[in-house]
Amino acid sequence: MIQSELLKNGFLEKAIEPSLDLFAEIKRLKQEKNAIVLAHYYQNADIQDVADYIGDSLGLAQQAAKTKADMIVFAGVHFMAETAKILCPDKKVVLPDLNAGCSLADSCTPDRFAAFKAQHPEHMVISYINCTAEIKAMTDIVCTSSNAAQIVQSLPKDQKIIFAPDKNLGRYIMQTSGREMLLWDGSCMVHEIFSKQKIVQLKLRYPDAEVIAHPECEEAVLELADFIGSTSALLKRTKQGKASTFIVATESGILHQMIQASPEKTFIPAPPDNQCACNDCPHMKLNTLEKVYLCMEYELPELILDEQIRKKAEVPIRRMLDISASLGL
Ligand code: 13P
Ligand code: SF4
Repeated sequence: MIQSELLKNGFLEKAIEPSLDLFAEIKRLKQEKNAIVLAHYYQNADIQDVADYIGDSLGLAQQAAKTKADMIVFAGVHFMAETAKILCPDKKVVLPDLNAGCSLADSCTPDRFAAFKAQHPEHMVISYINCTAEIKAMTDIVCTSSNAAQIVQSLPKDQKIIFAPDKNLGRYIMQTSGREMLLWDGSCMVHEIFSKQKIVQLKLRYPDAEVIAHPECEEAVLELADFIGSTSALLKRTKQGKASTFIVATESGILHQMIQASPEKTFIPAPPDNQCACNDCPHMKLNTLEKVYLCMEYELPELILDEQIRKKAEVPIRRMLDISASLGL
């Protein structure tokens, strides 16, 4: 069987000698291949610990755009690695697991979105970065949760806007900006799962705790939040805020950085609305340290993109990066 098949079927992951020092091996491969490891905050702690840069979607796109490395190892989900490839067509972009998708990106298929767009020809399209390259190719400006409000406000007041694919982030921006927008009906399976009732109970138990939430959460959860922001904004809040206890309504991977930055503070993951105690993104968590090592060693799986789509998708991402840079974001 060829290497790519072995990787796909998980045979190589199982064949790794347990005594192999993956941290040392990844360090060696970074040097040998002039590779950079970019990791989202929702990755497992050991992957965050080997990363050259850990960030939210905006930070990761900015890092990808400016790296001098020959190979980008993207420890995140597919649309993030795709964004790196769109920005760096001449670099090799590999990801630990090609199946690491995103429920939000999956909710917006190119054919349905093209039909929706055709019904509203006067609208400009702002797309959350959590979408496929095909959707980005149909977009005027991309945004992330770190800059969505500013991107929306950068358009003239009378400009009609379609906001896709996250309806929760879109509704939150509508409420805070006072702008009407047409929302695509998509959502994140991780951020929709939090239980309002259980958070209220936690607030009674920890009356001094601050509830911090990602804007991908449902309205009922955001109404309970003392602070709402992107993953990096939530991390900053825990470092700079006065509270010593935080109830965190976002994916649990971020707690690793929160605890490292403020070991004296207490972090309580907001409980989900089911019997399970975890709020992990199953897509993000497909990546393992073993798979990071293997994708660097074999340079597989590699992100390959249709050049026509890549070129079209690059335009709205560059617009986002330019607006963000001009605003110091
Ligand atoms: P940010 O990285 O913009 O905080 O978005 C969170 C997320 O769900 C990424 O998939
Ligand atoms: Fe997609 Fe939600 Fe997972 Fe982010 S946390 S990758 S939006 S499913």
